[in-house]
Amino acid sequence: MDHAAIIPGGGGERQAAADDRLLPHGPPPRPACCRAGARRGGTRIEGTALAAPPRRPSFFPHAHRLPPRVTLVALDGVGKRFASGTEALAGIDLRIGAGEFLAILGPSGCGKSTLLRLIAGLAEPSSGRITRQASRQVGFVFQEATLLPWSDAITNVRLPLRLAGIDRAEQEARAAAALDQVGLRGFERAYPRELSGGMRMRVSIARALVTRPSLLLMDEPFAALDELTRHRLNDDLLALWAGSGVTVVFVTHSVFESVYLASRILVMATRPGRVAAELAMEAPAPRPTGFRTSAEYAALCRATTEALEGAMAQ
Ligand SMILES: Nc1ncnc2c1ncn2[C@@H]1O[C@H](COP(=O)(O)OP(=O)(O)O)[C@@H](O)[C@H]1O
Ligand SMILES: [Mg+2]
Repeated sequence: MDHAAIIPGGGGERQAAADDRLLPHGPPPRPACCRAGARRGGTRIEGTALAAPPRRPSFFPHAHRLPPRVTLVALDGVGKRFASGTEALAGIDLRIGAGEFLAILGPSGCGKSTLLRLIAGLAEPSSGRITRQASRQVGFVFQEATLLPWSDAITNVRLPLRLAGIDRAEQEARAAAALDQVGLRGFERAYPRELSGGMRMRVSIARALVTRPSLLLMDEPFAALDELTRHRLNDDLLALWAGSGVTVVFVTHSVFESVYLASRILVMATRPGRVAAELAMEAPAPRPTGFRTSAEYAALCRATTEALEGAMAQ
């Protein structure tokens, strides 16, 4: 996309009756909470503010009142070329703000996992610069729960603390608290084989949270789960994020998931992987009841799909 894809404020024309929210019909209204920008070669072309705060009742009454953020990680002109010659990423400029929920959305092979590993410090860029806030603690959640099958849930969760040399009593207390945080109180002694896929993923998230990360990196963590489990985990993750102040970077190839979760979406294009568009979604968390079937959600999904299709056509 060469030009900005601007989605103006919704204005006050339309009455947002409760029925409208729950039963979207006709063309969805343009969302007041979404602004989008096309980027090329790492330069952000657009940056529109909302035209005006929405006057009608909205799912996002605080959209225009979000505070400015401290940068946790900054990427400037970052590229990654593997020894095989594959240029996985090029010209990535990105600021990750403390407390945000950033989704990285793009087709398979566009470099999402590579970008996440660079952000984590698990790999080095071959060009450009990454600056990280010194005090950050990073948690990483993979698509597979990757639990030790011979250890129960609490032993899996306290593993990072054991490796860090923290004493046993504190390991146990913090691991139990992390399991509680992800809704698994009472399952401390359950083995991975005794848990469902969703519960195993909850253990995996607890294991990332137990180190009290300021930055939680998640690489398609719910992709292998059934839809209802995924929805429940989405809601619980949002509640956790809203309550903890942790910064989340969440990789997904699902438009619906990215819109539901994120406060900002980076849409990636491929060959080489780069940021094609950026969409801000300043919605409250947890999402209000009925959000998944609301006209606002449908409109945000449509705008994001258009941005993704634009990125894939580049
Ligand atoms: N360790 C590696 N060595 C060589 N090529 C790699 C390596 N990891 C990833 N790639 C390549 O880099 C590109 C981006 O991969 P990846 O970051 O895994 O994409 P995504 O997560 O979006 O599916 C792909 O073409 C992939 O084959
Ligand atoms: Mg990947």
